[in-house]
Amino acid sequence: MKKNLKGLKILVTAGPTREHFDPVRFLSNPSSGKMGHAIAEAALQKGARVTLISGPTSLSPPKVSKFIRVTSAEEMYRAVMKEAPQSDIIIMTAAVSDYRPATYSRRKIKKKGRRSTLSLLPTRDILKELGRRKKPGQILVGFAAETDHLTQNALKKLKGKNLDLIVANRVGLKKIGFESDVNRILILSSQGQRMHLPLMSKSRAASILLDLIISDFSKW
Ligand code: CTP
Repeated sequence: MKKNLKGLKILVTAGPTREHFDPVRFLSNPSSGKMGHAIAEAALQKGARVTLISGPTSLSPPKVSKFIRVTSAEEMYRAVMKEAPQSDIIIMTAAVSDYRPATYSRRKIKKKGRRSTLSLLPTRDILKELGRRKKPGQILVGFAAETDHLTQNALKKLKGKNLDLIVANRVGLKKIGFESDVNRILILSSQGQRMHLPLMSKSRAASILLDLIISDFSKW
């Protein structure tokens, strides 16, 4: 059984994406990037070569082998697809925007003082595409941020995106989740295993998650 991640390449995504509709405005979400950074940090400590692809955050990047900063879902898609084939483990913590504005104005849109609508187009589902292209032996881990039906929604994503593991957590609660340093998570595997982790730091949760992967899920 493996004891660490030495010799393995791990790709982690973090943070939100921003979908601009003019130079100063965008659609996004409050993801802080903390979970992705904690996983990148823990993977480094366990000996992996780490590539971190991050949307805009206020965090300073850990000392990973490769740090790629992106803004939009489309940029993240391209960066991930380039790195994925060389990766043994891929962990998508990024809160990728599901929609982007249908049009972009190079000039700041001026206010009109009346009702206005913004037309949106779906972005590409990066994780679903990774699931389609998954190589034998590659481990694919997704995250599911849910306000309700946590297990049910997470299981749907686990199967629908062809993942090995999904890490689910509740969002919309005060104090934990998106911007917090702590989190309460549920880990589900494609083999039907499940593990509830009590409220703990994102660093500790990251370490436990990686240890499960290192042990080929036998620590369950
Ligand atoms: N994800 C992705 N590309 C997208 C949207 C999501 O790769 N365009 C990934 C996220 O990084 C995460 C997982 O898919 O690992 C689940 O993301 P989430 O936003 O919870 O779910 P969605 O698939 O977008 O479904 P919904 O928004 O309906 O819950």
